[in-house]
Amino acid sequence: MSRPLQNSHQKTLRTSRILGVGSYVPPRIMKNDDLKDLMDTSDEWIRQRTGIEQRHWVEGTTNNSDLALIATERALESAKLRKQDIDMIVYATLSPDHDFPGTACFLQAKLELPGIPAIDVRQQCTGFIYALSIADQFIKTGAYNKILIVGSEIHSKGVNKTPEGRDVAVLFGDGAGAVILGACEGIPGPDESQLYCTQLHADGSFAKELWIEAPTHSNDGPRLSHEIIEKGLHFPSMNGKTVFVHAVKKMPEVLLEGLNESGFTLDDVDLFIFHQANLRINEMIGKQLGIPEEKIFNTIQKFGNTTAATIPLGLDEAVKAGKLKPGMLVASAAFGSGFTWASAVFRW
Ligand code: ACO
Repeated sequence: MSRPLQNSHQKTLRTSRILGVGSYVPPRIMKNDDLKDLMDTSDEWIRQRTGIEQRHWVEGTTNNSDLALIATERALESAKLRKQDIDMIVYATLSPDHDFPGTACFLQAKLELPGIPAIDVRQQCTGFIYALSIADQFIKTGAYNKILIVGSEIHSKGVNKTPEGRDVAVLFGDGAGAVILGACEGIPGPDESQLYCTQLHADGSFAKELWIEAPTHSNDGPRLSHEIIEKGLHFPSMNGKTVFVHAVKKMPEVLLEGLNESGFTLDDVDLFIFHQANLRINEMIGKQLGIPEEKIFNTIQKFGNTTAATIPLGLDEAVKAGKLKPGMLVASAAFGSGFTWASAVFRW
């Protein structure tokens, strides 16, 4: 186990940077047509409204932390680090292995790294940026040197895969992405890899617009019952139009807030890696802000919405596609359940 770098009274602010990225999606591909009979939907409806063409679904007993483990191994390989170099795990998910303990603990056990702190972040689609921000604070203060940040989801086992659940079920896919965040050596130069800033927001008055109602303590009875299951309250439900309207307003706002805070303009950004909830949301944001299409890297067509995993998965895919290269300025923004919204500006 690595030890904290400094005592609290010696802490000085440092800058963090992403040292490596990895991702994993399960091999089983579900095309839109594969959902037709299950959910009374169509390839045309899904493509036109969302841009999604396919998603990946796990099989058998695969759990969320199994996906995260492979993404982590790939991120470590990309950062040229060993697992023993990890000082802390911050794990963003809305589909945990179990209600408790946190899935970061299950991943920590799979990594065989007993003793290091393991935190779960429950901020849904914005979870990865929240996790990045939390990790950044620990690096800045000197508390830890290398932090594993994971976004991982299994939606296929949690959504209602019948016609009643089709408005939500067709949108989501399974997958995981991970990055290793580390401290910059000294003060980074203007063109060197670094995390400039993260901006975080939430408005809980919209909590029930996109949520899973049960299991819950709000009942005068058990958290889960046959009645709850019969009513389908254990499935996610969403007011899609309200989510859409807020997403296209809040994502540009928080993106500009992040750029302003870091001293950049939209034109300075080389690549935009947005959350992937709906291709139409990202197209509208691009249009509103006048961002050239080729600067927005979308993966929703292949993976659907993988919630907390979309941004690290997007980063990894962009690297593999040769679209994200060292020295490039990246801006990310996300919006989701809570409502929560956030942005991050960093140099790759
Ligand atoms: N297949 C076929 N028909 C469908 C489906 C489906 N999968 N789902 C809904 N429909 C039908 C509806 O029943 C409705 O039929 P009706 O007119 O006969 O009543 C019709 O299609 C239109 O439905 P709308 O809800 O009006 O469709 P809309 O254009 O709003 O698109 C969508 C729905 C794609 C969900 C959109 O609202 C959206 O993308 N919202 C944002 C989603 C989002 O950002 N989620 C946040 C991230 S998730 C997170 O944080 C966990």
